Amino acid sequence: MKFQRYLEAKKSVEEDCLSLRVLDDVRGRLKNEDNVSVFEAGAGVGSMVQHLVERDVLPDRFTYTALDIDAENVERGRKRLADWGRRCGYTVERDDAKMRFDGAKRFDVTFAEGDLYDYGREADEDGEDADGYDLVVAHALLDILDLRRAVDHLFALGDAFYFPVCFDGVTAFEPPFDGDGECDEDSGDCGGFDARVERAYHATMDAEGRAGSSKTGRRVFDAVRSAGGTVTSAGASDWLVFPDGDGYTDDEEALLHHILGTVYDAVRDEGSLDEDKLDAWYDDRKSRVDDGTLVYVAHQIDFAGRCGDGEVPNHI
Ligand SMILES: C[S@@+](CC[C@H](N)C(=O)[O-])C[C@H]1O[C@@H](n2cnc3c(N)ncnc32)[C@H](O)[C@@H]1O
Repeated sequence: MKFQRYLEAKKSVEEDCLSLRVLDDVRGRLKNEDNVSVFEAGAGVGSMVQHLVERDVLPDRFTYTALDIDAENVERGRKRLADWGRRCGYTVERDDAKMRFDGAKRFDVTFAEGDLYDYGREADEDGEDADGYDLVVAHALLDILDLRRAVDHLFALGDAFYFPVCFDGVTAFEPPFDGDGECDEDSGDCGGFDARVERAYHATMDAEGRAGSSKTGRRVFDAVRSAGGTVTSAGASDWLVFPDGDGYTDDEEALLHHILGTVYDAVRDEGSLDEDKLDAWYDDRKSRVDDGTLVYVAHQIDFAGRCGDGEVPNHI
């Protein structure tokens, strides 16, 4: 499956999971401000612009810069946002990377291709640092980057931050595949094969030489404090995908297949588990998606706060 399809599926799954408390915090900070500017790093196919407009978090006039390092995401994101705007009743003028939306709100989105770390505050005409953004956003991004470096860089760009969907150490599938709760006498491993798959998968996120961590969520508090900022709200944004009376939606099914494939590929490459058993696990999980009997839980945390006015601890 194309990564862009996964990101589109993720948008609809996340409509039910973003922390409302954290969104309220962001709304309270910006809703009554004029000329609000937002910068989003790793914007994927543009889902967060949609979330923030659909949930009326941003004021009636704002500018939004969405940046992603992947050209396919950017191309897809530009088209998706223009189509979405028209469906929502906006007049959309598009000039390559720039889009102007005119309707219930009036806002400009610039969707650019580039690396977050190449993106700094521009100098104004006098050579001074130009004003920063009112809000910097990193959505489902910090867990694949060097956390401290990313937070430091983002804080240099803005006044307030919104970091939703920071993965935090739980990838669970139900019902169990094999041996739920049993402990292996030789290895001491508990929780059966599912737990071993989860541990091996998280180990790939934590591997030396790879940016990101399986425990990013809980570590954001310290990264923010160390960078001189303040977390003013935090709340869980767990993905909880299950078949309701009508089974899964197309997006839920697409997301489940993408996640299972990602876990399987990562654990197979990691190499610590029996390959035949891992294949059987993958086949079983996929067939449960087809039967509508798999439940998937991923624990994630959303954060909002101020970038620059916390007390910087002495050790920095
Ligand atoms: C897990 S995806 C999340 C996408 C989107 N924020 C969402 O939640 O739907 C992470 C995104 O970050 C982008 N990315 C990774 N490293 C980046 C960097 N250094 N600068 C800009 N974008 C980056 C990837 O191309 C990818 O689209």
